[in-house]
Amino acid sequence: MRRAAAFLVLLLCLYWTRAQGESGGVTGNDITQTEVQSEILGVIATSDQTNITPDIWAELKELRDMAIKHSVELWKLEQENTAIQARLTASESNNAVLEWKMNASDKEVEELKRENTVLMARMKTSENVMEELKKENTDLQSRVTAFEDKSTVLEVRMNASETEVEELKRQNAVLETRMNTSENEVEELKRQNADRPKVAFSFGLTDDGQVGPFSTDITLKFSKVFTNFGQAYSPTTGHFTAPVRGVYYFSFTTVDNRKSVQSVVTLYHNDKRVLWNQNSNDEHGWNRVSNSLVLQLEKGDEVYMVLHGGYTVYDNSGNHSTFNGILLFPL
Ligand SMILES: *[C@@H]1O[C@H](CO)[C@@H](O)[C@H](O)[C@H]1NC(C)=O
Ligand SMILES: *[C@@H]1O[C@H](CO)[C@@H](O)[C@H](O)[C@H]1NC(C)=O
Ligand SMILES: *[C@@H]1O[C@H](CO)[C@@H](O)[C@H](O)[C@H]1NC(C)=O
Ligand SMILES: *[C@@H]1O[C@H](CO)[C@@H](O)[C@H](O)[C@H]1NC(C)=O
Repeated sequence: MRRAAAFLVLLLCLYWTRAQGESGGVTGNDITQTEVQSEILGVIATSDQTNITPDIWAELKELRDMAIKHSVELWKLEQENTAIQARLTASESNNAVLEWKMNASDKEVEELKRENTVLMARMKTSENVMEELKKENTDLQSRVTAFEDKSTVLEVRMNASETEVEELKRQNAVLETRMNTSENEVEELKRQNADRPKVAFSFGLTDDGQVGPFSTDITLKFSKVFTNFGQAYSPTTGHFTAPVRGVYYFSFTTVDNRKSVQSVVTLYHNDKRVLWNQNSNDEHGWNRVSNSLVLQLEKGDEVYMVLHGGYTVYDNSGNHSTFNGILLFPL
């Protein structure tokens, strides 16, 4: 009985202590108290037969309930702890994986940095090349511009030249036409010239000295031939016969070597006298009669010189007396 009373006092003390703990906040002695309470409960169970008052029993019962509750809570905490331990372990291994991954990432970052450096260097080189190319491009642009300017100038000159060439071609065509016309005309003239009769004569009278005087008029027969193109002058008859209708030129000179006499010669166109020329000799003689004229003759017309009766003319190897004629142009 005395032993039960002593436990009761101890329990009250503990309870008081606990009440103090609750009012002052949770203390680190919770587990120790619970163990003590369990022990108390064991004592209580052994002293179940004692005569303790109902109040004390009620208190004890309350204390037992609290101890059971604490025990449950302790078990729960242990469970939670185990779970947290497992999670910690999982976290740690996870962490190792993450660290490994991190290391891999770091490596990659390093690699990327290295590559980046290399790329930066290449980029720089490229930029330099680009700058160089830009400069060259500008240079080329200005050269191209210069070439274009030159080209324009050349095109203008080319166009001018082409225009000139066209103009020259046109002129050339005109000239070619005129040239062709001229050539045709030349051909025609050549043809006409080839067809044109060549008539020219020049004769000396004689080497035999004085001719005449005669009692009648005679035709002077010039017998010394210088030229006789066309054979139109006949030294046999003394007549020039026109081979074609045309315009002819005639000239003559005669000498009279007698002294103090009159000299007269005449020239005839067919039956018609066209000139009667006279000169008066002094005491020295060697008087000359000379004249020239242009006549239009029909084909077959005759021209000749006549010495009238009583007059004389003279010639010798000196060729003093000559008779000449040419065809100027046919009609
Ligand atoms: C990660 O790198 C560090 C430093 O280099 C090293 O100490 C550690 O062991 C590495 N961890 C793993 C998981 O490779
Ligand atoms: C040159 O002539 C061509 C053709 O006639 C023309 O198209 C061009 O504009 C001309 N150029 C100049 C510079 O006059
Ligand atoms: C000029 O004559 C040449 C040769 O006969 C000929 O080929 C050319 O076509 C002629 N030109 C003209 C413009 O008549
Ligand atoms: C006169 O003409 C003939 C030719 O018909 C010539 O041989 C002669 O030398 C000429 N006489 C003189 C003096 O020139």
